[in-house]
Amino acid sequence: MTARTLCHLHELPDGLARGFDPGATGQTTMLVLRRGRQLRAFLDRCPHHGTPLAWRADAYLNAAGDRIVCAAHGALFDTDTGACTLGPCLGQGLTPVAVRLGPHDQVQIDEPHSPIQETSP
Ligand code: FES
Repeated sequence: MTARTLCHLHELPDGLARGFDPGATGQTTMLVLRRGRQLRAFLDRCPHHGTPLAWRADAYLNAAGDRIVCAAHGALFDTDTGACTLGPCLGQGLTPVAVRLGPHDQVQIDEPHSPIQETSP
């Protein structure tokens, strides 16, 4: 399994999320959240209708910055687990992607990036 570098840790604002397109599809397909040196990553796909989450680039968090939000119908997701905590997809969740800090604080995923577990849309 090869590692793909998304960016350097300092390119992820602490406490925020950023979208990536590691497969060069032309649109963001995953997001990475940073809390200090802790990273979480999920596919950029709402379990409600399978659409991208953000209404503009990197706008993944609610105003309080403590939940991932889907712009379409306002579903909220836990930033650690991706579980839906409010909205039309309760009982479902975002699909986690394995992410880690590699050498020299590079933010890396496995190539090809594969979800930790697949959920049905
Ligand atoms: S598409 Fe995300 S809440 Fe409906």
